[in-house]
Amino acid sequence: MTEASARTRHARELFAPLGPTYDRYANVLSFGQDPRSRRFLVSRIPGDATRVADVASGTAAVAIELARAAPSRTVVGVDQSSEMLAAGRARVRDAGLDSRIELIEGRAERLPFGDAEFDALTFTYLLRYVDDPAATMRELARVVRPDGVVAMLEFALPRGLWRPLWELYVRVGLPAAGAVVSPAWREVGTFLGPSIRDFYERYPLAAVVELWRDAGIGDVQVRRLSLGGGVVIWGRRA
Ligand SMILES: C[S@@+](CC[C@H](N)C(=O)[O-])C[C@H]1O[C@@H](n2cnc3c(N)ncnc32)[C@H](O)[C@@H]1O
Repeated sequence: MTEASARTRHARELFAPLGPTYDRYANVLSFGQDPRSRRFLVSRIPGDATRVADVASGTAAVAIELARAAPSRTVVGVDQSSEMLAAGRARVRDAGLDSRIELIEGRAERLPFGDAEFDALTFTYLLRYVDDPAATMRELARVVRPDGVVAMLEFALPRGLWRPLWELYVRVGLPAAGAVVSPAWREVGTFLGPSIRDFYERYPLAAVVELWRDAGIGDVQVRRLSLGGGVVIWGRRA
């Protein structure tokens, strides 16, 4: 792998201790929204997409959902965290899906695949962790065949009355709840709110959509989920 920047190294350190407990607490701390959002993300991928890449695959929640959604589908999950992938491999085994899901270590900025290898690609909670979201979007689009669907799930900033409630949650509730679980989850709970805020200051949602278009993805659509706290974006490779 190429040398990682401070931002990518921080992401690696953040996720390294989380693998074994990630699924349970991501679900609890998102009030059960995480699995619902993933299901909507996966529903964007056409059933005839038989070879799908899932980038920032972590513990393989999306990869498993993708494989379950289409019996003839194979999925390659990529993540830079060997620890998250180790938890993912156990989960894939338990789900009896090892013959259709492969998990490999790699970075979204430089995917270990040729051009247009995949019928579709998903990625989850990734763009906040990369230095150059525009270049990463181009790299993600590169490995998808023309007309293939690209879909992402990310946190978002709620609007209107929900925003102050969200601020209260990420400033007080989430760090406190994380601290109850473990020091590693306290770090996540403290980091998440500023990370989401900072990302959308640099790239408001309209600018994110522009990144997609500039990467050669057309027909880009946006759906806000979870009272605006999540967003799914999808489109087709030109
Ligand atoms: C919040 S987790 C999401 C995992 C999974 N997709 C899910 O929905 O549960 C984000 C994942 O992104 C991975 N990640 C962060 N930066 C990355 C990069 N530059 N390349 C590959 N993976 C990255 C982390 O290791 C982590 O597993």
